[in-house]
Amino acid sequence: MQFLSNRFATRTQSLLLIFLLASLVDSVCTRQADAQEKGKRAPYGTYLGRRIAPAMTHLAANWLIRGERESEENPTKLLNQLDLKPGMIVCDMGCGNGFYSLKMAQAVAPNGRVLAVDIQPEMLQLLSRRSIEAKVDNIDMILGTTTDPKLPDNEIDLLLMVDVYHEFSDPEAMLKKIRKSLKPTGRIALAEFREEDASVPIKPEHKMSKKQILKEYEANGFQLLSEYDGLPWQHLMFLGPKE
Ligand SMILES: C[S@@+](CC[C@H](N)C(=O)[O-])C[C@H]1O[C@@H](n2cnc3c(N)ncnc32)[C@H](O)[C@@H]1O
Repeated sequence: MQFLSNRFATRTQSLLLIFLLASLVDSVCTRQADAQEKGKRAPYGTYLGRRIAPAMTHLAANWLIRGERESEENPTKLLNQLDLKPGMIVCDMGCGNGFYSLKMAQAVAPNGRVLAVDIQPEMLQLLSRRSIEAKVDNIDMILGTTTDPKLPDNEIDLLLMVDVYHEFSDPEAMLKKIRKSLKPTGRIALAEFREEDASVPIKPEHKMSKKQILKEYEANGFQLLSEYDGLPWQHLMFLGPKE
């Protein structure tokens, strides 16, 4: 009997120990996952007087494909301004779940390609699922880093950034690599929510003024080529390397 209760006590202690260890491991892993998630979205300070915004989390990706996006932002008008042609090599920088990648892929088909870059693998997984559903096979997904979009040199005709640039934690490193990726005739199409317009219902750190955009791009060797002011919420500016 003594033997049995000792064994029972030892087993109970062992089970308790395993339970405590498991809870500890679980709590450490949860904290690590939270920290990683926060790390991706951490505010990174300022650049040339502008507060850099945290990256939008993949957990909110559904907002990017909300039904009202067409009436609120008029992406069809934006796409029409890009002058996409079959055969072009284009990049959707900060593609998210691919709202624009899928549309650009159709416009440059059959021989053109879309290089869709994001720093969140979860966004690329969402895009991958959406392209399979849409039977689109001319999108290359690239997992970039905050300092390197991992693009090939000298290949891009047009690089689109919609509501992305203001989230770059290292704008200088990114613009340097982007510059190298463009063909000599290559252009950036930059869309940013208008800071000058208080009626645009977006948080201040996710908006940019034209003045600030030019300040940052000119400081990094780019010049304004043209602009389009007909979108409801965003600036649309075309920039290219300074000659
Ligand atoms: C607001 S979402 C916009 C997504 C997409 N452009 C659209 O309009 O539907 C911004 C995206 O930019 C990505 N991003 C932020 N910093 C980045 C960087 N340095 N390189 C590539 N992607 C980045 C984020 O992970 C996020 O998916």
